[in-house]
Amino acid sequence: TSPIVIAPSILSADFARLGAEVEAIVAAGADWVHVDVMDGHFVPNITIGPPVVKAVRKVTDRPLDVHLMIAPVDPYLEAFAEAGADIITVHPEAGPHLDRSLRTIRALGKRAGVALNPATPLSSIEHVLDVVDLVLVMTVNPGFGGQSFISSQVKKIAALKEMIADRPITIEVDGGVDRETARDVAAAGATALVAGSAVFRDGPANYAGNIDAIRRSA
Ligand code: DX5
Ligand code: ZN
Repeated sequence: TSPIVIAPSILSADFARLGAEVEAIVAAGADWVHVDVMDGHFVPNITIGPPVVKAVRKVTDRPLDVHLMIAPVDPYLEAFAEAGADIITVHPEAGPHLDRSLRTIRALGKRAGVALNPATPLSSIEHVLDVVDLVLVMTVNPGFGGQSFISSQVKKIAALKEMIADRPITIEVDGGVDRETARDVAAAGATALVAGSAVFRDGPANYAGNIDAIRRSA
């Protein structure tokens, strides 16, 4: 079995102290740093853009896992690549040509991810798997941290694992992941776990314990 990757979502960090927060989660054992980009259009919330990704890039060498919840997404792929993203993940609904978006990300030298909302079927990515490095299964409707895990998605993760077969594609899960739900998603085949509120809860002194708890139950 592959080692589990823990990717804390900085959406739950204290934005006024963002550099220190990123350093704290990395010191606490974060493998990747998950960055949630929202435009108030594709999702009902607005967060951050390329300048903040560029600033975060300066404080860590860990892979930046950039989750784009913006539409149209294509005009911004290059800006996020230049800002220092390592993985760039798009939603199939965020542009007219998913295959083209994924190829563009790879042409920019980045790992190409595709994110599936709870209602988005696996069939939407069936024919693009050869240009995908990561599939992000959303276990909440995207837009906010701290929402409840949608357990119907565990079956989807298992079906995705079968669909991927022996392709070198990472299964990542995002939304409501904590020490309880981590067990179920890992058992279904996820190897990368995004966690926002479950990592950042109770302040920096608890980040390492929070990350360890998720990793141990996965
Ligand atoms: C939701 C974001 C998630 C979110 C996760 O739209 O994509 O990354 O920050 O937060 P928790 O772990 O609190 O559900
Ligand atoms: Zn996310």
